[in-house]
Amino acid sequence: MSYIARDDRPADKAERYAEVEGEILAVLEGETNRTARMATVASMLADAFPAFFWTGFYAVDPDRAGELVVGPYQGTLGCLRIPFGRGVCGAAAHTSQTQVVEDVHAFPGHIACDSRSESEIVVPVFDGSGLLIAVLDIDATEKAAFDAIDAEALERLMGKVFGA
Ligand code: SME
Repeated sequence: MSYIARDDRPADKAERYAEVEGEILAVLEGETNRTARMATVASMLADAFPAFFWTGFYAVDPDRAGELVVGPYQGTLGCLRIPFGRGVCGAAAHTSQTQVVEDVHAFPGHIACDSRSESEIVVPVFDGSGLLIAVLDIDATEKAAFDAIDAEALERLMGKVFGA
């Protein structure tokens, strides 16, 4: 398992997600600005899970159809734009389905922003009317860092933060 427990925190990954979800929702109480919400999620998730190497958002660009543009993130320099259908983020945007990639080097069309990235999860983000507004992209430096527990927890979190 990828998650490295800190001494004073729950060892179980699902439990840690539940804990950090509560913390994020508490911080965001009353804040409606989407950029502020994305920045807070990126920062708090990056801090909550030491295995997370790059944590952030690619937003659907309202000015350029079929393109994602980088949003708030924590990590090394990410590429600025990703066309729908290209790489892991583009696949998530194109299909509106979460992508769990155990080995990014085996994923067709993967965009290597940082060669240290080995595995990745990308979760589509919808607004309250069900419109795709962004994808949440999390990378790890080890293979197979993400599984169904991450997918379920992150989909639930995105629904609570951006779909309510
Ligand atoms: N690896 C991603 C590109 C974004 S970076 O990882 C920050 C992809 O193939 O979608």
